[in-house]
Amino acid sequence: MKEQIEAIQSEALAQITAATDERTLDDARVASLGKKGSLTLVAAGIKDVPKEDKAAVGQLLNAARTLITAALEEKQAALLEIADRAALAGIDVTLPARTLHSGSLHPLTLIRDEAIRILRRMGFALADGPEIEDEFHCFDALNTPADHPARNEKDTFYFDSGKLLRTHTSSVQIRTMESAKPPIRIICPGSAYRRDEIDATHLSVFSQLEGLYVGTDVSLPDLKGTLEYFLRELFGTTTEVRFRPHFFPFTEPSFEIDVKLTVKGQAPRWIEVAGCGMVDPAVFEAINTSRKDNAFDPEQVTGFAFGMGLDRLAMIRWGIKDIRLLIENDARFLKQFA
Ligand code: DAH
Repeated sequence: MKEQIEAIQSEALAQITAATDERTLDDARVASLGKKGSLTLVAAGIKDVPKEDKAAVGQLLNAARTLITAALEEKQAALLEIADRAALAGIDVTLPARTLHSGSLHPLTLIRDEAIRILRRMGFALADGPEIEDEFHCFDALNTPADHPARNEKDTFYFDSGKLLRTHTSSVQIRTMESAKPPIRIICPGSAYRRDEIDATHLSVFSQLEGLYVGTDVSLPDLKGTLEYFLRELFGTTTEVRFRPHFFPFTEPSFEIDVKLTVKGQAPRWIEVAGCGMVDPAVFEAINTSRKDNAFDPEQVTGFAFGMGLDRLAMIRWGIKDIRLLIENDARFLKQFA
């Protein structure tokens, strides 16, 4: 048995020395130490060894196993080093690493989130509505007559089904009032679509933020105070805000809001950022008809509404001259907001 063990040992060591990769090394391990390996099989025969020889044979077996195991580990480390060296061959490890650019939020997302934060602090909750709308929610219920220019096929994207891409987020006012009763205080940021000629200040898809507040004694001073406070929170406490009388079918009276933009080295100028007004009683009537109740009794409730252009707010905030930069995804532009 002693000779057998020695033979196995030298055969195994020779195989290990000859191994050229992990595979052949593993073959060598299995051949000697594996479940059916030569040493394992011999070790199983120890039960037939005479009692007085058992200890000596056992020692021999252990010594052989220890020797083979050590040789396997040593060879494995050597093979690994060779593999590492081969993997690095031709690579200049002294070259500077490639920079991984980390992403950042888009300016429209930044301004939208900031606007939401301010308005939520004032008690406005987030509302939502579909971008593919019907004429009722986008126009009729908002007191916009069939011959209003905004409903023209030249200005609005219509589907063959008669549905359309909402031209403003004001449709969410209607959807909200259809499903909730006063008091209502909601905002809805979202996309709106128009067939505008694309230039430095117009896109065919843009971002708005709609607001609606309906209660028992909501007044024009509430509207002014809310929006002035909002714009000063956003642009700074000294921001000058101007309410200019205007016309919207769904509010009466209606205003456009301008913010005075002062850029160093440029003459100050007023930039239009929003439309707003007191909800026209005709809108409440349309809602009541749609709801089949009188939850928005024009004798009981009043409200104000506003719709802001988020792209405009971003342009003012960061002095962006061309609105197209906001959709072009040019990394040189976007990384300035990182
Ligand atoms: N929907 C208008 C637009 O897109 C903006 C607007 C004006 C929204 C007055 C309002 C409002 O809620 O009361 O031009």
